[in-house]
Amino acid sequence: MSDKLPDQGRDDEEVLRDLQRFAADDPDYRHGRLWSLVYWLDEAHDEFLARAWRMYASANGLNPGAFKSLKRLEGEIVAAVAALLHGDEQVCGVLTAGGTESCLMAAKTYRDLARTTRGVGRAKMILPVTAHVAWFKAAEYFDIEPVRLPLDDALRADISALESLIDRDTVMIVGSAPEYPHGTIDPIEAMGAIAARHGVPLHVDACVGGMILPFMAMNGVTLPRWDYRVPGVTSISVDLHKYGYAAKGASTITYRRLDLFAHQVFVQEDWPGGVFASPAMLGTRAGGAYAAAWAAMQRLGVAGYRDLARRTHEAFTRLCDGVAAMPGLRVLGDPSGPLLAYGSGDPQLAIYAVGDRMDARGWSVNRVQRPEGLHAMVTAQHLDVVDRYLADLGAAVAEVRADPALARQGSAATYGMLAQLPLRGMVRQQVREMFVRQYGRGAAPLDVHAQAVGAAPGARGMVERLALRYADWRRRRSTRA
Ligand SMILES: Cc1ncc(COP(=O)(O)O)c(C=O)c1O
Repeated sequence: MSDKLPDQGRDDEEVLRDLQRFAADDPDYRHGRLWSLVYWLDEAHDEFLARAWRMYASANGLNPGAFKSLKRLEGEIVAAVAALLHGDEQVCGVLTAGGTESCLMAAKTYRDLARTTRGVGRAKMILPVTAHVAWFKAAEYFDIEPVRLPLDDALRADISALESLIDRDTVMIVGSAPEYPHGTIDPIEAMGAIAARHGVPLHVDACVGGMILPFMAMNGVTLPRWDYRVPGVTSISVDLHKYGYAAKGASTITYRRLDLFAHQVFVQEDWPGGVFASPAMLGTRAGGAYAAAWAAMQRLGVAGYRDLARRTHEAFTRLCDGVAAMPGLRVLGDPSGPLLAYGSGDPQLAIYAVGDRMDARGWSVNRVQRPEGLHAMVTAQHLDVVDRYLADLGAAVAEVRADPALARQGSAATYGMLAQLPLRGMVRQQVREMFVRQYGRGAAPLDVHAQAVGAAPGARGMVERLALRYADWRRRRSTRA
């Protein structure tokens, strides 16, 4: 490991060879083995994105007045996305660096809208428990209390509880199209009607769905309405670096009207560096991300995205059907695509142990919890591998049935305990400590995807310590009683 700058600059080719070498153990996203994180088309598309990026690699979106080219790209991207969402010409917005930034911005916008127009001090946002974790991050960062909408038995946001949760301090409601854990589209029309009746903004998180659901609908897939056609919807986030097949670092946040967006903007008029205004979280913005996103959209066009949506939906449907037909497994909730999660319908079959056996066969699958399951963010390239995946899944299930002890080994045990241990504050503290430790000098990196904490070296020990503490806590409590 190199821990300081080389004294002399190194040869270009040697440096690039190093970069290639470092990636050798990264997940294999080129052959459909990875079921999250990367939305990969093919080498030609990658090369095209790299060329577009290179042309704007030094351009900076910090000041839209300076790089007018970037402002133009942003304007054209936002207009194209707004049209896909059935927005009228009032719909406006900006490019952000990712879904999380888009979500954070909506939360800040509505907090400030409520502060300025209604004097709300202790802001609250209502969100289904399945809303992406970015919303919980937004709540923590911007000091907004998250008010959780529970799920019904079908793992849908329980809309019947929504109205009673709204009060004077509610600054926004969040719905997803679809939500990350199970791929379910929240009942946006019903949420929109309630939101409009109470004058509360409704944001639709379509970070996953925004660049695929419109094309699935064009292909004839029946979907509930979730976009600007729903009157109560005031803003929508759509990622380009997911199903838009842009390079990483590109998402959009759009608002129904400019006066809503106005609350997203930051201005500092007294800074010695000059009077400053900025539309979103970041300062310097990678011009390459604008260029690659715009270029991807131009390269694919409606026909290209429809074709990708068709292949993705076919892979998704085959996966859902294959899982549903497998004794002991069940699809969780009612996914619309493009993603799904599945769990065990048989108490003797530990789904996390099945996950370990899939890992052992070279598949990279995420775990979900409450209920426990395995996750699949399906993309077009998975159509080529879905049959192999299902065959391996069948074999993994058979292995776990033949050896139930597998549930108590490997990461299955850790994930299971992490999901089930009570005293969640203690779990949070321990995970935080473990996560922080990887940033100490010389520490080995954890798998940085939060849901993979259970697979990280050291996680097992951490969970065992937690379990001991929990047992101790219970003992002390029963002694007191
Ligand atoms: C529904 C949803 N919203 C927001 C995000 C956050 O997106 P990003 O990882 O680009 O920040 C994700 C990521 O998967 C998501 O699934």
